[in-house]
Amino acid sequence: MTNLHSTDRFDNDFGVAFDVAIAQSVFTHLPLNMMRLCLYRVAKVMRPGGRFYVTFFERDPDFPLDQVKAPESASDSRDLWTERNSFWYYRDDMRWVAERSPWQFGLIGEWDHPRGQVMVEYTRLRD
Ligand SMILES: C[S@@+](CC[C@H](N)C(=O)[O-])C[C@H]1O[C@@H](n2cnc3c(N)ncnc32)[C@H](O)[C@@H]1O
Repeated sequence: MTNLHSTDRFDNDFGVAFDVAIAQSVFTHLPLNMMRLCLYRVAKVMRPGGRFYVTFFERDPDFPLDQVKAPESASDSRDLWTERNSFWYYRDDMRWVAERSPWQFGLIGEWDHPRGQVMVEYTRLRD
């Protein structure tokens, strides 16, 4: 039985439906179009009421779109960009990427991630 699958288009044809999925520190490396595709394809294998937990680097709505977020500590070596890896995003971006899929957006927020990633909880709606 296959229980591990790695593809660049989020293929998830395991032949079973899921209740829970997680993308921890994955959307931090994806542009918006890939996030949108991921949500679309994961929704196809989730049961209604299922949850998809996703982490991202959030910036406030007034953070300038073209500003690079510098590291805050010595252990945090990467700049964050909105157009290149590693990415920061606005909360509204995380809503927008789910608009073409049957997800309800919810924000969990801080969860003590060591580099400050926040958590989104997408809930699978009925078709
Ligand atoms: C920082 S690691 C996080 C790994 C793991 N989730 C964890 O928390 O330890 C980032 C992960 O995103 C995956 N990734 C990056 N770009 C991707 C893409 N375009 N499609 C699918 N996965 C991608 C990488 O393969 C890597 O496993």
